[in-house]
Amino acid sequence: MDFRTPELDKLAAETVPQAYFELSAEDARDRYFADTRMLDGKQLAHNRFRTNPRTLVDHLLDQLALTGNERWLDLGCGNGFIAEQIRPHLPQGQVVGLDIAPGVLDAARQRLAGVATPCDWIEGSADDLSMFSDNVFDRVTAIYMMHYVPDIAACFREVRRVLATGGRFVVTTDRPDSMVEMFGVHFAAMKQMDAPAHLFKATPKARISLDNGREQLAPYFATVELVTWQDQLRFTAVGPFLDFYAAHNYCCAASRPGDGLEPGFFTELRERAGEYVQQAIDRDGYFAVTKFTGSFVCQ
Ligand SMILES: C[S@@+](CC[C@H](N)C(=O)[O-])C[C@H]1O[C@@H](n2cnc3c(N)ncnc32)[C@H](O)[C@@H]1O
Repeated sequence: MDFRTPELDKLAAETVPQAYFELSAEDARDRYFADTRMLDGKQLAHNRFRTNPRTLVDHLLDQLALTGNERWLDLGCGNGFIAEQIRPHLPQGQVVGLDIAPGVLDAARQRLAGVATPCDWIEGSADDLSMFSDNVFDRVTAIYMMHYVPDIAACFREVRRVLATGGRFVVTTDRPDSMVEMFGVHFAAMKQMDAPAHLFKATPKARISLDNGREQLAPYFATVELVTWQDQLRFTAVGPFLDFYAAHNYCCAASRPGDGLEPGFFTELRERAGEYVQQAIDRDGYFAVTKFTGSFVCQ
């Protein structure tokens, strides 16, 4: 599926800033992922509005090439949404989920309670894997989480150490222009509101994206293969789009609440962004949000 068009490229060139937000592991732990709200919002929208019939998990299963007995470490496992679907492919294997946020980790633990495959849930930061011996995992994944990790190089060094010979490390992230239509309406609304300049930044995934991930991984792994795919979410009503937008902390503008903004700032931002989205729905029947995403498969 190729959703790329000259219009979308033009929007990306005009819209995506070079500077990007940097989010801390502490904020991830104590605020964004203190409970499952943000993950629920994103996962629900993908389930309801995606147009690519192949899910994220379908793509991951291709990349993981499981035989059923692998020992799998999922870094930043979140609420276990992915582990729940991959776990049945490991009937003789083992699942270890590690996450910095006890709130979502608890949700993962409960979600997979009682399954046949042994599961362990560990609270910690992905750049410190000192609780594991060398060569103990056949697969390690880091799915939409590496941009939060304080010391990315230390994480890669640690993954190399814990990965068994012949094992695979799959790092999933986005291109910086992924979801450009959402950024388009967001920045248009913020310009109308004369929002502060420091809020005009790109996604934090630009820190380790499909554009710059290979050079960060190459020092630690013999081969780094890039596998990409696309999807397009098509929202047919404004409400579900606004829920999705809120689940992204309004393109991170709300990642630090009270950051000198007037009370009601985000209420107005929602209303204005919603107006653009409604115009697209009236014109086209839906508002599209295109995902440019993929994984680095490292061995
Ligand atoms: C966007 S969520 C992705 C969750 C899951 N991988 C998925 O795709 O559904 C990012 C996850 O990374 C976790 N995280 C953030 N910083 C981390 C760190 N330093 N080490 C481990 N996990 C971290 C967050 O708590 C959150 O669960």
